[in-house]
Parts: sequence; structure tokens; C-alpha cells
Amino acid sequence: MPFMEWTGQFSVGVDAIDGQHRHFFTLINTLHAAFHRGEGESELRQTIEELADYAAFHFQSEENLLREIKFPLMLNHEDEHKRFTAKIQGFRDKLSSGNFAITVPLMDFMKQWLSGHILGSDKKYADFIAENHISINASGG
Ligand SMILES: [Fe+2]
Repeated sequence: MPFMEWTGQFSVGVDAIDGQHRHFFTLINTLHAAFHRGEGESELRQTIEELADYAAFHFQSEENLLREIKFPLMLNHEDEHKRFTAKIQGFRDKLSSGNFAITVPLMDFMKQWLSGHILGSDKKYADFIAENHISINASGG
């Protein structure tokens, strides 16, 4: 069983975003597996970079979407993304300085944050979209 598994409960009703969330889960699983295999520092660093880059891309497309639909909680939502980004940056700095004891807290943080964020905050814009009968264009923002 993967470290993180995307199931229907995580759907926000926007195909493009659901697809991105699935990929985010996959990258976290890839990092988790790399830690467990005891991959070397450069491999781990590369995997974390990829994950951080993807997170930035995903947050940007979500924020574009929220701007497009004039989501009232936009600023709070952006703040949550920023806090995640800052936290991951902190972990990257620690790994760069050779502190590999942080791998378990890092993986736990990512898992808890992502599932909590989707089920708590992303679901709020999902409800907003549904309640206001907003149709999302194919690009997903
Ligand atoms: Fe989000």
C-alpha cells in the first residue's frame, strides 16, 4: 500500500486539479520510497526539488483558478500554500546541511498537510464552485 493513496474523498470536482493532486501524491510516494531505499543525498535532493517545483506549479494553477472564480477565501488559501512552501524550504535547508534525521518528520508533515489541506481548505472552494454553479473551463485555470 502506498504511503499516500488518492481516493474519491479527495476530489474537488475539478478534473485538472484532481489530476494535479494525484500527481502530488505520487511525488510524495516517490520521495517516501527513496528515503526507504536509503537513496543517496543527490538522488534525494533531486526528488525533493522535483516535488517542490511541482508544488509551486500546482499552487499557482490553483490560485489562478481561485482568482478566476473570485473565491472569497483566496487570501487565506494563498497563505496556507505559502506556509507549506516555507516549511518545505526549511526541510530542504536541513537536508542540504546533511541532517537526514528529519526524513520522518518531513514525510509526516507532507502527508498530514496535504490531506488536511485538500479535505479542509480545497473542499471549501469545491463547495463554493458547486453552490454557485460555476463551470470551470477545460484548462482548469
Ligand atoms: Fe490549495
